[in-house]
Amino acid sequence: MLDIENLIEQLTLEEKISLLAGKDFWHTVPIPRLNIPSVRVSDGPNGVRGIKFFNGVPSNCFTCGTGMASTWNKDLLKQAGQLMGQEAKARGVHCILGPTCNMARSPLGGRTFESYSEDPVLSGFAAAKIIEGIQDEKVLACLKHFVCNDQEDFRKGVDTFLTERALREVYLKPFQIAIRDSNPKTLMTAYNKIDGEHVSQSKRFLQDILREEWGYEGTTMSDWFGTYSIKAALDAGLNLEMPGPTRFREVLQTAHKVYSNEIHMDVIDENVRKILKFVNEGLKIGIGENIVEKENDDPAAEALLRQVGDESIVLLKNENNLLPLNKSEKQSIAIMGPNAKATQDSGGGSASMAVRYKITPYDGIMKKIKEGGDNIVTEYTIGALLDKNLPDVGTSLTNKDGETGVTATFYKDAPEVTDRRVIERFNLSTSKLFLADFKSPNLDINELLYYADFEGSFVPEETGTYIFGCSCLGTAQVFIDNKLIVDNKTKQVRGDAFFLGMGTREELAEVQLTKGQKYEIRVEFGTSPTALVAKEFKEPGGVFFGFRYKSTPEEELSKAVEIAKKTDKVILVVGLSKEWESEGFDRPNIDIPGYTNKLIEEVCKVNKNVIIINQSGAPVAMPWASKVQSILQAWYGGNELGNTMADVIFGDHNPSGKLSLTFPNRVEDNPSFLNFGSTNGKVWYGEDVYIGYRFYEKTKKDVLWPFGFGLSYTQFEFSNLKVVAKEDVVDVTVDVKNTGDKEGGEVIQLYISPVDSAIPRPVKELKNFDKVLLKPNESKSVTITTSIKELTSYWDGYKNKWASDKGEYKVLIGNSSDNILLEDKFETTKSFNWLGL
Ligand code: BGC
Repeated sequence: MLDIENLIEQLTLEEKISLLAGKDFWHTVPIPRLNIPSVRVSDGPNGVRGIKFFNGVPSNCFTCGTGMASTWNKDLLKQAGQLMGQEAKARGVHCILGPTCNMARSPLGGRTFESYSEDPVLSGFAAAKIIEGIQDEKVLACLKHFVCNDQEDFRKGVDTFLTERALREVYLKPFQIAIRDSNPKTLMTAYNKIDGEHVSQSKRFLQDILREEWGYEGTTMSDWFGTYSIKAALDAGLNLEMPGPTRFREVLQTAHKVYSNEIHMDVIDENVRKILKFVNEGLKIGIGENIVEKENDDPAAEALLRQVGDESIVLLKNENNLLPLNKSEKQSIAIMGPNAKATQDSGGGSASMAVRYKITPYDGIMKKIKEGGDNIVTEYTIGALLDKNLPDVGTSLTNKDGETGVTATFYKDAPEVTDRRVIERFNLSTSKLFLADFKSPNLDINELLYYADFEGSFVPEETGTYIFGCSCLGTAQVFIDNKLIVDNKTKQVRGDAFFLGMGTREELAEVQLTKGQKYEIRVEFGTSPTALVAKEFKEPGGVFFGFRYKSTPEEELSKAVEIAKKTDKVILVVGLSKEWESEGFDRPNIDIPGYTNKLIEEVCKVNKNVIIINQSGAPVAMPWASKVQSILQAWYGGNELGNTMADVIFGDHNPSGKLSLTFPNRVEDNPSFLNFGSTNGKVWYGEDVYIGYRFYEKTKKDVLWPFGFGLSYTQFEFSNLKVVAKEDVVDVTVDVKNTGDKEGGEVIQLYISPVDSAIPRPVKELKNFDKVLLKPNESKSVTITTSIKELTSYWDGYKNKWASDKGEYKVLIGNSSDNILLEDKFETTKSFNWLGL
């Protein structure tokens, strides 16, 4: 362990400054002279991607955040955190960049999938349990993004305005709970501003609230390229600028500011202390030097991914008990929809990763049918397309070594040069290539100008017209058998590819291909300094290329309808994908894009037994909800997504998920609708504390599916509510009985509503919850203990403190926000104010 105070004495000013920013994308700066090692960080939050964004070692990927929160299972989330911690160690990672506990303020938020909920308490508990699990393994968690990073629109500059009450009761609350209950060792600041000031350089947030009010002693780091100043950020206590090499904390200029009394030496020392503390926490893990990243194929890990996925799925509708299907019954089932043979493992952006293995919904269902003795006859068709851009064709190509994939050859010289100098050559499994953190021993870390050829052969299964295309940050040209097909080099138009719409639009071309013939595909790429547009980004860039057989939506639709006419049942796997829901941009509306809704409507006209499985991280509109018999909400499901859907469809898992967010009828009904996205660089959280169900309940607005809602294949009875108020806590006890004939899990949701209140308050607010697993006829008594402070307090904007007013409080117990089954009261005998955790 490092002797921090001794090191503060020994380090030169220059060394101290160098410690205050990353060495590269994923490491801190080491000082070998004083045996200070480097700390390794990795995204987060639904798995551990490892140290390479580009061409990383494949990982185990969990269900996305909103799905994990929909399990409402604290123990399970802790186990998920433990597995994340183990994965981190296997990759030599000291710190996981997660969990994300920003608020799902709007269904449109590009990163809503990555966060947990529209409810701050569910969000805070979910984050706390994941952190507890990660840190049980001694790995460090990094709670992010502190605070109000609740939209992607203009995310680095948007100035957020909200009342202190909304800030405290809603947006800071999950951070407060997570810090109180699980003490994450690190915290990442948000990109955005609040009240005119970037949070990453705000004394109000980083000192007054975080350090002084909450007593937080961990290390703070900026989001990637989310440091915006030298002095202000250091003074505020932004300990670490990420990533490296630094953009602001250059040794020469920072030292100059210290010598000229612009930045106090104590400020440097205090920030360095926190970095050394971070290193010490990392050392405690005992990760050896030079760990080679490897895949974790432990069956126990796979079982846990599956359990989390199973418990996250929410049964929204099940008329005539169409589900579960009987896998041994003779019947015919059509499997269709854009997501049936796709693997929507994660939303897009830094939460996504190369996933170690993927089970498509189709594969999951087919496996079960086999288990049942192959009694079910199936037929598949896609029915509608979802692609925003052409699909990833990594698995349709054969690389230069004769295996599935793409061969990448990196060059120092442009394609026109003869005898191009090769930097490196290796194979890849994808055609969506973002080089953000590509490093090669033959490239200098600051070298941004280089080239690559991506090659593979393709043998079509059908003769016809194919659409080829590519978008890039840089320049790219697609060749088939050495003939130029798509030119995204000599002419370029800006588009929305790559994180912040940094790249070009997708350029397309049509080509006739013949079944069985082998075609050599080559994409010649130049990094971003070669680009004609988006030259301002100092990034190596990347290219997304793909192709697909050309068909019209009408052709796909009529194929699907014909199949639906002659099968007993139809399973439609629909929804969104990481192309539509991602870090970097918000959604324009909540509609499922393309022809999917039309497909569902038309299929419903010819088949009465339609089961919809929707995959999305945030609510979508379901204009067909009343016409189908069964609906499942299945999120982005990580590696095991197909297995988990099949488990629920065939009743091997009885669904117990409850929605972590409300599905409104229309996006216009959402409380943030008038104030979402930025207007001239500003956003006003006009709905105040009335986020999600707090708004729908107060305004008595009908919703499609309420917060906390989810059905089961069995029935539960709640009885015997007992509320016992003690000095600081209230014990709420309730008996839950499984009165049906299948084992199942049920969530006990505890809401509070003050009988009288000095200020306007939501109709009720979730304060705690628990989940029980019960066999048929089994009954359990569940006690939930919660502090009086948390049950009763609101933010008093006049005193600038939390206020708990003496009086009566209703305790409402239900299994959904719209299904309160039992009610009682407790009374507090004194009013008090408080600050802190
Ligand atoms: C995201 C962070 C992430 C970081 C590193 C940023 O774009 O906002 O959540 O941890 O990248 O990938």
